[in-house]
Amino acid sequence: MQIQWFPGHMHKARVQIEALLPNVDLFIEVLDARIPYSSENPLLRELRGDKPGLKILNKSDLADPAQTRNWQEHLEQNRTIRARAVSAKEAGTIRKLTTVCRELVTGSKPVLNAMIVGVPNVGKSTVINILAGRKIAKTGNEPAVTRGQQKVRIGDGLYLYDTPGMLWPNVENPESGYRLAATGAIKDTAIDYADIGFFAAEFMLNNYPEGLAARFELDELPTDTMGFMEEIGRKKGCLRKGGIVDLDRISRIFLTELRSGLCGRVTFETPAMAEAEIARVIAKREEKAERAKSEGITRKQRRKRKRR
Ligand code: G4P
Repeated sequence: MQIQWFPGHMHKARVQIEALLPNVDLFIEVLDARIPYSSENPLLRELRGDKPGLKILNKSDLADPAQTRNWQEHLEQNRTIRARAVSAKEAGTIRKLTTVCRELVTGSKPVLNAMIVGVPNVGKSTVINILAGRKIAKTGNEPAVTRGQQKVRIGDGLYLYDTPGMLWPNVENPESGYRLAATGAIKDTAIDYADIGFFAAEFMLNNYPEGLAARFELDELPTDTMGFMEEIGRKKGCLRKGGIVDLDRISRIFLTELRSGLCGRVTFETPAMAEAEIARVIAKREEKAERAKSEGITRKQRRKRKRR
């Protein structure tokens, strides 16, 4: 699934982050623990350089605990990174993060400035509110909202630069689009429910069948996705005239239940999957650049020949 994002917004985010860089001691990135790669902002990887980074795997109450541990280990292979699994359901796990920030920055600076980033819906505002101990106004994270960045005092000498959420997830990777939609990170008005519902059902049948069997009280799970959707559609009474299952309606119900954790704790990607996809994205990008380059030469040569 291709996500539409606007190059103008990417440029704006880059300029804003670059302007703040000299004042920033560390980066805090809020990720969705169910999709730590897909909910990452690729610009940050590029702009962070060697500055310390704290990756917050938020919504870990909804993610597969074994996979969350895998991700934590994987992310911490980079020695400038610390990764912590947290959940807004356990505010204490979030409050402890200020200590991790202190540990990450070497030298005893009385004041620490951290830039906090997160693509829409990962729970960045929730995390900031818990850290600050009060409700902080949301910076705009939709194209139409243009509220600026703000500096939030956390206490204990820690300040957060909350960037406007004009940050985009991994839009170049088509699989990431599906995972972002399945977890609810992409606005529902922009998605085709049946398309995403079938993607999520197939993933669940292959990886977490026991969660589906328990939720939908199925003694035996259908092996194919259509069979599964039709069966739960009939169970939930999502029928059209003539007894045909309404696939759009059952997909909406299924996605709502999946997103709220009713089908069990689920992680949609592993570090190995992410690495393979990153390699594919890079190869595609290089191929595109190569094509553009060779087309440019041909055009140049053509113009030269015309002039002769
Ligand atoms: P954002 O600033 O990154 O865009 O995200 P925000 O904090 O607004 O959170 C997006 C949604 O995710 C909210 O739900 C929020 O309650 C939920 N959320 C945040 N952290 C966690 C977590 O650790 N676990 C779970 N299960 N949910 C979390 P919402 O339904 O959009 O809003 P609301 O009804 O909760 O206000």
